[in-house]
Amino acid sequence: MDKLLLNDALKYCADHTSGQDDVLRALEHETHLTTVTPQMIAGPYQGRLLQMLSQLIRPRRALEIGTFTGYAAICIAKGLAENGILDTIEINPEREGIIRKYLSLAQLEDHVRLHIGNALGIIPDLNERYQLIFIDAGKKDNATYYKMTIDLLTPGGLMMIDNVLWGGKVVQDPNEKDAIHIRKFNEMIADDPRVECVMLPVRDGMTLIRKN
Ligand SMILES: C[S@@+](CC[C@H](N)C(=O)[O-])C[C@H]1O[C@@H](n2cnc3c(N)ncnc32)[C@H](O)[C@@H]1O
Repeated sequence: MDKLLLNDALKYCADHTSGQDDVLRALEHETHLTTVTPQMIAGPYQGRLLQMLSQLIRPRRALEIGTFTGYAAICIAKGLAENGILDTIEINPEREGIIRKYLSLAQLEDHVRLHIGNALGIIPDLNERYQLIFIDAGKKDNATYYKMTIDLLTPGGLMMIDNVLWGGKVVQDPNEKDAIHIRKFNEMIADDPRVECVMLPVRDGMTLIRKN
């Protein structure tokens, strides 16, 4: 499929995906008004996929690395089991206000533990096992996050990793510095005998990983 057709097909897919609720719509709007990098938000299409996968798994414990303004956190938390908890980690303390505001509006504040700080320092202290993990922070650290959390994922659990296509550069500009890094990471996942994976062209590319 050429690029134009792929973009048209993805737009058609998004147009025929269930829409977002009022809280998520307001969060998306406020994110655009108040941050300089609103494109980092998961948004309605990827958010609905995260929500659906979480609803299918019904995790008792879920982990997100990279909260930003909390869009994906709300989507994942909607699928938690009764009494389930999502741990979500954000390095930027300026995000705390908007995250807590919308968790409260979504009535999910009792199901989400927000950790403000560097995930690299927080993960070793979590002491939990997770049925669902979403890695969506510094792309160059994806391999580090994967190695740090794969043992925290329960067998049969689902890990999702964002930005695996790096704006298409992994295919179109494979020798670009960051693309080389991400390609190596993608190959490491595809070759890891502990897991099976499916890479999807959703947004900036998302790999679904099931632990055997
Ligand atoms: C793409 S955004 C996350 C988007 C969010 N998951 C969503 O769905 O809306 C990446 C976030 O990771 C955060 N981040 C980057 N490095 C981090 C680190 N070492 N520890 C925790 N958060 C980090 C950034 O501050 C940024 O808010």
